[in-house]
Amino acid sequence: MPAYVIVGMQWGDEGKGKVVDYLTSQADMVVRHQGGNNAGHTVVVGGKQTVLHLIPSGILHEGTVCIIGNGTVLDPQVLCKELDSLDASGCGYKGRLFISSGAHVIMPYHKVLDKAQERFRGSRKIGTTGRGIGPAYADKADRFGIRFADFADPALFRQKLADALEYKNLILKDTFHEEPMEVDAVLKEYAPFAERLRPFVADSVVMVHDALRKGKRLVFEGAQGTMLDLDHGTFPYVTSSTTLAGGVCAGAGVGPKEVNGVIGIVKAYSTRVGEGPFPTELLDDTGELLRKQGHEFGATTGRPRRCGWLDCVQLRRAAMLNGATSIVLTKPDVLTVVDTIRICTSYKINGVTTMDFPAHVTDLEKVVPVYEEMPGWNQDISGCRAWDELPANAQRYFERIESLVGVPISIVSVGPGREQTITHKDPFA
Ligand code: GDP
Ligand code: IMO
Ligand code: MG
Repeated sequence: MPAYVIVGMQWGDEGKGKVVDYLTSQADMVVRHQGGNNAGHTVVVGGKQTVLHLIPSGILHEGTVCIIGNGTVLDPQVLCKELDSLDASGCGYKGRLFISSGAHVIMPYHKVLDKAQERFRGSRKIGTTGRGIGPAYADKADRFGIRFADFADPALFRQKLADALEYKNLILKDTFHEEPMEVDAVLKEYAPFAERLRPFVADSVVMVHDALRKGKRLVFEGAQGTMLDLDHGTFPYVTSSTTLAGGVCAGAGVGPKEVNGVIGIVKAYSTRVGEGPFPTELLDDTGELLRKQGHEFGATTGRPRRCGWLDCVQLRRAAMLNGATSIVLTKPDVLTVVDTIRICTSYKINGVTTMDFPAHVTDLEKVVPVYEEMPGWNQDISGCRAWDELPANAQRYFERIESLVGVPISIVSVGPGREQTITHKDPFA
């Protein structure tokens, strides 16, 4: 039962989209199991860039079945736009793209509430993407949410929407002094999306298990990253879903024993979008250099990403939380512009050295990172296609990461293109 989880090991934007697309050539099915269009996953094939927010990054491979699982939250408007752009690029998806009947729908009030809550938080804001993700997941937990099966049925949609709005309008009006929403107006806008998306709705659990039984290879595509996990991330500066590898179980309906391996995506330096502690953040020219060289601007909101050195204390925690079986290292080509590379190996908190990532944000805010320095390579590596072609100093940096994190590197990505990829060890072994 060869199922593999692809998980972001940092704060998101590690290059999951590129890696999922690359690995899909060896997979039959790709499943998104959490998150929504807070994600922005970039795939570059033949110099052409595609940014996917909801549709799995395996969609550009013609024969691959792509599933949006029950653990996701979907904005129908955004999904329809994404289908439009696939149509425009000639990418066929009919008959191989499916939406779980249990996925939750992001409604217009979720987006208004997301922004209103951020305003309410003021200086304590999370820095969300403003896409309604938190309020949609909150409604799921509160049992006011609308599932895709309800959304796709006109009578049920009207009823569920009316029920939800009766409650939501109280909050919109009385708490946030926002305009209430009319059932008919929302229906008028959303019914065409429901009409268009209805043919894609399926019981994804049956499809996933059918594929597993037939011995097909499945890839579960994580969104966001480990440190944005609702339970184990830097709470409250997190997203509202389980971003860890274990999230696959609830988000796609598979038991833990079905998962054969966990492929952790690690960017060769660190980035973060939004608020919250970031121990190795670089607020100087080097941070600016990494942002410029790595094009570190959000694929969803366009916000500049905060940049910093690789943090192996954080990565050890991520390896533990996900049970990572191998690492795919991305974007080391960006570090070519740096003469001396720093790696964080331990933390000092209140003058005490620790190798452990603190569980609470108040301790994380006090961290002084302890660095080790390594010489850079000053030589373009984006054309390398084999481990042996990499400069010795790059190989040393990669091996140091393996030993500090305690997980072997299976693949090194040296550029955004599908072909700019070096397989060092089989990630599916
Ligand atoms: P995701 O959210 O994890 O899928 O990552 P994003 O797509 O948001 O951000 C990663 C960015 O880095 C995208 O612009 C990719 O095209 C790009 N990228 C991915 N891998 C590499 C790499 O190895 N080198 C370089 N230079 N860019 C890469
Ligand atoms: P991908 O899949 C990076 C961040 C937001 C914010 C926090 C909460 O492309 O790696 P939310 O809108 O989810 O309630 O925002 O999480 N965030 C991401 N940062 N990459 C992402 O996705 C992210 N999705 C959410 O910036 O700090
Ligand atoms: Mg992204």
